[in-house]
Amino acid sequence: MKLSIIGTGYVGLTTGACFAEVGHEVTCVDNNQEKVDMLLAGQIPIYEPGLEEIVKKNVAAGRLKFTTSTADGVRDGEVVFIAVPTPPQADGSVDLSFIEKVAREIAESLKPEYGFKVIVDKSTVPVKTGQKVGETVRRYAPEGVEFSVASNPEFLREGCAVDDLLNPDRIVFGVDNEKAADLMRRIYSPFNAPVLVTDIESAELIKHAANSFLALKISYINAVARVCEKSGADIEKVAEGIGMDERIGRRFLNAGLGYGGSCFPKDVKAFIAISESLGYPFELLKQVEQINDDQRKLFLDRIREKLWVLQEKKIALWGLAFKQNTDDVRESVAIKLANDMLKEGAKVTGWDPQGMETAKRFGNLGEGFTYGDDMYSCLDGAEVLIIGTEWPEFANADLEEIKKRMRNPLVFDGRNLMEPENMAAAGIEYYSIGR
Ligand code: UDX
Repeated sequence: MKLSIIGTGYVGLTTGACFAEVGHEVTCVDNNQEKVDMLLAGQIPIYEPGLEEIVKKNVAAGRLKFTTSTADGVRDGEVVFIAVPTPPQADGSVDLSFIEKVAREIAESLKPEYGFKVIVDKSTVPVKTGQKVGETVRRYAPEGVEFSVASNPEFLREGCAVDDLLNPDRIVFGVDNEKAADLMRRIYSPFNAPVLVTDIESAELIKHAANSFLALKISYINAVARVCEKSGADIEKVAEGIGMDERIGRRFLNAGLGYGGSCFPKDVKAFIAISESLGYPFELLKQVEQINDDQRKLFLDRIREKLWVLQEKKIALWGLAFKQNTDDVRESVAIKLANDMLKEGAKVTGWDPQGMETAKRFGNLGEGFTYGDDMYSCLDGAEVLIIGTEWPEFANADLEEIKKRMRNPLVFDGRNLMEPENMAAAGIEYYSIGR
């Protein structure tokens, strides 16, 4: 099928590449000329395992094109996906101005002779956005154009986006007529996954409700971790025991510094704001946020208890990305923690396997922050090592090297990556979360 995707960020680019990979002909549109030029030259603007390979392969096969022209995208795609940012506003509600702008541009590019088109929202949007997109397109489109609006939320995780897209747990789309449903079914027929077809509002809500539930799971285990700390129980064992119940499951029960990234913080906030605007104050989700924010503050309290005063202290920080296998530093808890410590006058040196460049460009790290040359050099003379991101490299670190390089072998592990027994055996003073 011929598909177009407007917006070539994480979601748009990986979705476009994966659609091409399963045999569709895809036009990716982005208004950023520089980005389009990079992509045309085979350079990928983000780090995502496996993405570069399938982009190159499908560009070479002629199934994947990049352009800055929305008009070309609308002309070429039987189905046009919208995958532009929906950033949070100061009050937590969602900024829909990019969606509205793209809806207008699509409308102005539509022509009656193009025949029936489906305009699908893939960005995470508040419930009822589809309705608004439909009204907007109708208002700005010429007479006689034929289209439907649909919602098709994306559940990919950064770092395994390609795999999540090619082998999804489920595919959800919301439509309001059979013709659109048929086209959507055809798009996803090469994918081996259960399909749930709903009305547009339910599909929109599924995304916010799913992400908020996952965030709730993380805050729940972090709250349990606090009780573990106070009682001498071990959160890792508790999580294992809870997770063995199939109704609960072990995944997303990793206690730590809390969730970050471009999705969970924003989506929980948005879901609270949406519910509030519909007349339901979602108090449970407010607690989820509170627990998440406190997680970092409590960790810092424990570091302060050990070091007393942070001013002038040399601190090594492993991890800048918001999680492992990504270079994304948006809403990174590790970076927030670094900034908290810098404000108290600490000298923080950080290192990350993929996030160094993105941290330099977008991390907004405070004054006094320095970047290590490699994983071990940032330990030289440090009084404490803090692990802020769950990279496997850190779990497999050379403990002798840590001990040799640091001024005092003291480790605060914000992601429970190390085995406490191994740390004790290596003579390293070690603190983690909930055990
Ligand atoms: C998430 C959802 O998983 C995905 O379905 C949705 O489409 C977008 O949002 P992503 O933001 O890429 O994906 O990251 P994810 O792997 O879900 O992790 C989010 C955050 O939660 C990270 O900061 C991670 O460190 C943290 N986390 C995750 C925990 O603290 N504990 C866990 O058990 C799992």
